[in-house]
Amino acid sequence: MMIAVVNQKGGAGKTTLSVHLACYLHDLGLKVALVDNDPQQSASGWISLAEPGIHCRTLLEPAALVDGVQQLESTHDIVIADGAPRLNEQTHVLMYFARQILIPTRATTLDVQATLTTKDSIDRVREARIADGRGDLDVRIILNFVRTVGNLHELMRTSLRSLKQPLANTALSMRDAFAKAVTHQTVVTRMKEPGAQAAARELKQLFTEVLPHELVQLNQAA
Ligand SMILES: Nc1ncnc2c1ncn2[C@@H]1O[C@H](COP(=O)(O)OP(=O)(O)O)[C@@H](O)[C@H]1O
Ligand SMILES: [Mg+2]
Repeated sequence: MMIAVVNQKGGAGKTTLSVHLACYLHDLGLKVALVDNDPQQSASGWISLAEPGIHCRTLLEPAALVDGVQQLESTHDIVIADGAPRLNEQTHVLMYFARQILIPTRATTLDVQATLTTKDSIDRVREARIADGRGDLDVRIILNFVRTVGNLHELMRTSLRSLKQPLANTALSMRDAFAKAVTHQTVVTRMKEPGAQAAARELKQLFTEVLPHELVQLNQAA
């Protein structure tokens, strides 16, 4: 089973979400692999220091991605893929093979518009998947960098809901702890400071809300 984290926009929080999700599932006892599809390879560098127990592979070309993802799926409970900030053949491979797609987005109009372009692309891939008899595809948009002051995120939330977009109820706030986690080569769920603990609580709430049911069952069996 693969969960792909995609958004054509850079700086949306894809790598942050991928690394945190991978560590969260690892800490629950699952055998996790991380696929880094971004040529910048930020996820690979971060995860190798944060949690060497997670097998990480950089797969940049479409053919390598097709082979690599299927091979990793057969040897791991879950594969998390960190997408590149573009919509290309590689991103389409991730969309085609994923069981679930998470799309983090900054809560501003321009970012949400870019996110909707990514979502349109997923909907086209979904048609190909249905034609090929590959099961359902679960897509969740996640508002990230939500500020505690102002109500911009509420406007974004209302507009995404009115467009019937699959928005997760749980959003991630803008918190220094997410940026500090990279500096400390760890994840917020393993940090002690109060800001990190608040971030960890939000993440756990998000994962409890959105993760596929099969994964939760796998976790209970582990
Ligand atoms: N909720 C958040 N609050 C504060 N900083 C964040 C948050 N999410 C991500 N960041 C920071 O924003 C930057 C971009 O995030 P990143 O995960 O690299 O995005 P992407 O992979 O989509 O380009 C990084 O410096 C990261 O530490
Ligand atoms: Mg990234």
